[in-house]
Amino acid sequence: MGPTFFVWTVLASLIFVSVSAFNGRNAEPAKTFIVDLDDPPMQRWQKVVLSAAVDASYYKQGIDKLLKAALSSEALVELVEVIAKDIEKFIPQPFADEIRGISQATGIPLGDVVIANIIYDVSAFGSSGNKACTSIVTADKSGKIYHGRNLDYEDPEFLKNLTIQVDFHQNGKSLFMATTYLGYVGVITGSRHGAFSISGDERDSGEWWQNLIAVAEKSDITFFHERMILEKCTNFKEALTEAMSTPTIAPVYYIIGGIKPKEGAIVVRNAHTLANVTMLGMDQTHPWYLVETNYDPWKAPPASDDRRDAAIHAMNRVGQDEMDAEMLYKVLSVPLVFNKDTTYTTVMSAADSSVYRTMIRWDGPED
Ligand SMILES: *[C@@H]1O[C@H](CO)[C@@H](O)[C@H](O)[C@H]1NC(C)=O
Ligand SMILES: *[C@@H]1O[C@H](CO)[C@@H](O)[C@H](O)[C@H]1NC(C)=O
Repeated sequence: MGPTFFVWTVLASLIFVSVSAFNGRNAEPAKTFIVDLDDPPMQRWQKVVLSAAVDASYYKQGIDKLLKAALSSEALVELVEVIAKDIEKFIPQPFADEIRGISQATGIPLGDVVIANIIYDVSAFGSSGNKACTSIVTADKSGKIYHGRNLDYEDPEFLKNLTIQVDFHQNGKSLFMATTYLGYVGVITGSRHGAFSISGDERDSGEWWQNLIAVAEKSDITFFHERMILEKCTNFKEALTEAMSTPTIAPVYYIIGGIKPKEGAIVVRNAHTLANVTMLGMDQTHPWYLVETNYDPWKAPPASDDRRDAAIHAMNRVGQDEMDAEMLYKVLSVPLVFNKDTTYTTVMSAADSSVYRTMIRWDGPED
């Protein structure tokens, strides 16, 4: 522990109140796996899931628990299982074959892998529980864009065990980086090199059955759509347009960062329609960054869950002059923003492919 480290620690504790009830474990970097988009979909994930050696019954138990926590009644659980059995009808290619490949390679029943992949879209409804996420897009003093996010979810320990980084390749080179959970082929957090970064935060609204009706109408499964944005769009503007215009099954916040100053946006989606867009620079009180948790930007967050103001407070304390990847990670580690449900923290910068780091938050506060 050298003097520099000491200075850092003192500095950090002056700026941030540290999280109480630290459980004695440290955060760990997520392992990176390559998925080659030039491989046939059935084969893409096989090496990943085999080298990670997930046990089928362990996986099934975890998924069952998540599903029961996300959906309030047995009847809903059964309905989801019906969808899971009719994969052809509800899940488009290449995702259907990727899911099949994962099931084949691991021995995890197809229905369980399907359920794991549609859980967000059938559970993002008005009354659903206490899921939470935070995404921040910020410019440093030179205008370089950083994008950070915490993914908070129920049963965080199970999901921490499954957290991986995926380096998606095409034409023999890295196209974009993503963070996901083993077996989940959608992307909730990702960065396309030299183009843009994107993260999704849950937005609860409407009734659960509206989500299911939208499934039947062939809207895009929300985080399959986000992955497609990363595969297809070559710059911030294209990504923004795509996020605004394509119907998704569930309501969602897409947070997008670019590679030029002012390239940042929060896209607020209803399931089928666009609700609103906030651009970086629009908020006069802090024009150099955007914070999105799980509430509409134009409304105050509820006092019972004000992670937004905790993040804003921490961002302002750091200030634009001091902002960088390390500081953004620290902001994402202040109490409330970082909480017992936080599974991972990713900090990324599309302009700089050396900045993509996911830490699994084993250092989280206990209940
Ligand atoms: C996570 O993995 C560890 C080590 O493999 C295991 O002991 C633990 O029970 C797992 N936790 C959950 C909730 O699945
Ligand atoms: C989006 O929010 C802004 C700021 O509150 C508001 O002025 C605007 O009318 C909203 N747009 C839509 C489409 O609701």
